[in-house]
Amino acid sequence: MMRAEREHQQRGGTMQIGVLGTGMVGRAIAVRLAELGHQVTIGTRDPQATLARTESSPQGVGPISEWLAANPAVALRPFAAAVEAADVVVNATSGAAAQGVLTAAGAGNLVGKVLLDVSNPLDFSKGLPPSLLVANTDSLAEQIQRAYPETRVVKALNIVNANVMTRPAELAGGDHTMLVEGNDEAAKQVVRDLLAEFGWRDIIDLGDITAARGMEMYLPLWLRLMGALGTVSFSIKVVR
Ligand SMILES: NC(=O)c1ccc[n+]([C@@H]2O[C@H](COP(=O)([O-])OP(=O)(O)OC[C@H]3O[C@@H](n4cnc5c(N)ncnc54)[C@H](OP(=O)(O)O)[C@@H]3O)[C@@H](O)[C@H]2O)c1
Repeated sequence: MMRAEREHQQRGGTMQIGVLGTGMVGRAIAVRLAELGHQVTIGTRDPQATLARTESSPQGVGPISEWLAANPAVALRPFAAAVEAADVVVNATSGAAAQGVLTAAGAGNLVGKVLLDVSNPLDFSKGLPPSLLVANTDSLAEQIQRAYPETRVVKALNIVNANVMTRPAELAGGDHTMLVEGNDEAAKQVVRDLLAEFGWRDIIDLGDITAARGMEMYLPLWLRLMGALGTVSFSIKVVR
């Protein structure tokens, strides 16, 4: 049994979780995990610089100082400090920056750990809509797994909006599907347990990490659905 699973059992289901990313996804996941009783640290490049920001993002995400004041159970640390004592790491950083963030987090801090990758390899450099930085024969999740072979990468949640990720029951009563993949069965079970805590009931295991190609290539379709529906609050249900 690996460390994350062992510690999970020892703490009666409570884990220490390092969430890399201070955007709407990192915040939504961090607050939900804390609400469920986990010990959560959120990672950023430079906490002082992040705390000093006063502007809201174009998506309406306000200053993190206000968010931290409203969510005092979550600690803000530099990337490495956020994950060094974690049982599980969540990658909720910009896809283009993900590898640099993991370098900053430190390979040694990631060895043996479950890494839930919710990022998307979106390329905004040529304008909107974004294209994908990697596709077809590779994926960001596979690139991360190759760069950190001793880390147990599991892809999930990248196919829905941040609020749907963490509170699926608020959409269609939770009657929709989440997909997961990864090379390590025990790591996938840790993630499945977390997804179940969030409220996901229909979880399909797509197999090894190469299935992340399809998960990430769903994004162009997700973007068109968002445009057609005029909302980010939607999901998929696999009917069988
Ligand atoms: N928004 C959604 O609902 C949604 C849904 C599904 C998947 N996703 C994916 O989830 C991930 C997070 O999305 P988001 O909208 O929450 O946030 P985001 O704006 O994509 O990423 C924010 C995080 O990325 C870090 N970052 C950005 N540029 C960096 C750089 N050059 N070097 C180091 N770190 C950098 C920021 O660090 P600092 O904290 O230091 O600023 C911040 O922590 C993305 O990959 C996105 O595609 C988003």
